Amino acid sequence: MPQGNGYARPAYSLRAIQGYAEMIKNPDYDFAMEEIREYAGIIETKSLYIKEVIEDLHFATRLKNKEFTLQKKTRNVVVLLRDIVIQILNDPTHESREIQFEANEESIYLEIDELLFRRALHNLIENAIVHNHSHVQITVSIEKKERTHLFIQDNGKGIRKEELDRIFDRYYRGTNTGAAHKGSGLGMAIARDIIKAHGGEIVISSEIGLGTTIEVRL
Ligand SMILES: Nc1ncnc2c1ncn2[C@@H]1O[C@H](COP(=O)(O)OP(=O)(O)OP(=O)(O)O)[C@@H](O)[C@H]1O
Ligand SMILES: [Mg+2]
Repeated sequence: MPQGNGYARPAYSLRAIQGYAEMIKNPDYDFAMEEIREYAGIIETKSLYIKEVIEDLHFATRLKNKEFTLQKKTRNVVVLLRDIVIQILNDPTHESREIQFEANEESIYLEIDELLFRRALHNLIENAIVHNHSHVQITVSIEKKERTHLFIQDNGKGIRKEELDRIFDRYYRGTNTGAAHKGSGLGMAIARDIIKAHGGEIVISSEIGLGTTIEVRL
């Protein structure tokens, strides 16, 4: 699967699945069991990727067409945000990471759909981990002023100016992504739609070599 060259192409994964299946099926080849297992492993990984993309797409489309009624409840977003950070750090693949958490108040109550809010923030924070080197410093903070401001700040590799607009596009994957993260490129688009559905906005600023700051205003 091509990585970091613009738009993610699930079709490449499908083509690979088809290719391996055809090879295994072909009576002209005599594969060792070990080889067959390896090909089956590739088919499995690529199928899971496609499943994830389809689910994300289905979700994004429903959100866009407003087929979703937000299940809004009053929630303490300070507690919620801290919990999302803990959940990410509890993921075994991120266990060696550190994320700084800051809040200028203990309780900030907002009317939100908790599941959707978690999904949006989870992707934004996870992006700071998966698209940067392992020693990146990440700070997640929340501040109450006239509105509530959430910041996800990293000192990672940054995003090029020409790409900043496009990273909110469906399927867009930046040129700075490595092979380590196989995403659908829908994460930012979904996050933006969720925040918009809550009447909020996302502002992104980034500088190559210095890092990226995502601000969510609610
Ligand atoms: N904090 C960040 N630092 C550097 N690049 C980032 C950061 N956040 C997002 N990006 C860039 O924006 C692109 C789009 O992000 P998005 O979340 O939509 O897709 P993804 O993370 O590649 O895939 P998915 O979220 O579906 O798993 C990423 O591919 C990456 O290039
Ligand atoms: Mg992402």
